[in-house]
Amino acid sequence: MHPLHPSATPPHPDVLVVGGGIIGLVTAWRAAGRGLRVAVADPAPGGGAAYVAAGMLAAVTELHYGEETLLGLNLASARRYPRFAQELEEASGQRIGYRRCGTLAVALDADDRAHLRELHALQVRSGLDSQWLTGRECRRLEPMLAPGVRGGLRVDGDHQVDPRRLAGALLAACERAGVVFHRSWAERLTTAGGRASGAELADGTRLAAGQVVLAGGSRSGRLAGVPEAVLPPVRPVKGQVLRLRLPDPPPGGRPFLSRTVRAVVRGNPLYLVPRESGELVLGATSEELGWDTTVTAGGVYELLRDAHELIPGLTELPLTESRAGLRPGSPDNAPLLGPTELPGLHLATGHFRNGVLLTPVTGDVMAEVLATGTVPEEARPFSPTRFSPTARGAERTRAPEEQPV
Ligand code: GLY
Repeated sequence: MHPLHPSATPPHPDVLVVGGGIIGLVTAWRAAGRGLRVAVADPAPGGGAAYVAAGMLAAVTELHYGEETLLGLNLASARRYPRFAQELEEASGQRIGYRRCGTLAVALDADDRAHLRELHALQVRSGLDSQWLTGRECRRLEPMLAPGVRGGLRVDGDHQVDPRRLAGALLAACERAGVVFHRSWAERLTTAGGRASGAELADGTRLAAGQVVLAGGSRSGRLAGVPEAVLPPVRPVKGQVLRLRLPDPPPGGRPFLSRTVRAVVRGNPLYLVPRESGELVLGATSEELGWDTTVTAGGVYELLRDAHELIPGLTELPLTESRAGLRPGSPDNAPLLGPTELPGLHLATGHFRNGVLLTPVTGDVMAEVLATGTVPEEARPFSPTRFSPTARGAERTRAPEEQPV
């Protein structure tokens, strides 16, 4: 540094976050709150998968077999939402549409009902709060449901948030907290002395940083310069989503839907998320088609066909938007959080179907890791190293009597 111009070179950030979706932004905001100097690289921060997502906080109704460990993290994050929403709204001066409306998951035919019974059994075994209702009881709660509804699960603890507002509020909170934004893609991770040292951006900027967080959603596995063994095994899983406009409820009357409604219609998962703003989000397809984000006639047809069967009156509503996004899928459907085997490089990616739900806990975990070097207890099962070739090799060579049961 030139002695006569001590401020000519701005200090390097302590942390460079690659990716400004909700996961990158919450990491940046929470890390800045711990006194770290933070920069984010993203051409359009606040976009990404959250711009498409419906925003269900569905730890209980979106439970799947084999995801019991993930359930613990999902529930931990759901519990943090009320406080998180309050803190973020105060820090940003913006509302995030956190709505404690509960969820009703319903079945339309005998197969759907059998599927829902299985889900209910799993929920009960997992100690979760979920109540079985008859078709009549479901329609009493939501009169717009088709008369053919065979039964359902009432889950009063699965709420919703508006992901676009969440992203906007995180962006504002980051700016107020002094996070510096570089509106360009990170093209290459740089390393020095065997550790991550920053990134080269598409606009030619070279950014040095004490620690780097790769939070690029489905693109996280594509950053050049990341050693092969450390690249996260994240893939894009396409979801097509529709937005419709709800009618204003008549004075003193019932809204079109008063809670999130989910269903499996002839094996296809479907959800409808009614917002206080009058938006109804209808999703979603799940397609393994690489980087394709085309909205297809077939995708829209299937969503509307199944939704019409569930709620016949829905086809009267104005269709205002159709869009496709890419979920960052991981091999075990769970996120990769914390340090990698390359010193100085951390991951916050692979959140798959649960990015919006996991935003609060991800921010807390990543800030703790970045500020103290310690991985909090709740994040330890989600270490990126569980996918590293070294860890997998050790598992393969373990003697049978040493295998976990
Ligand atoms: N969590 C909803 C979805 O991934 O479609």
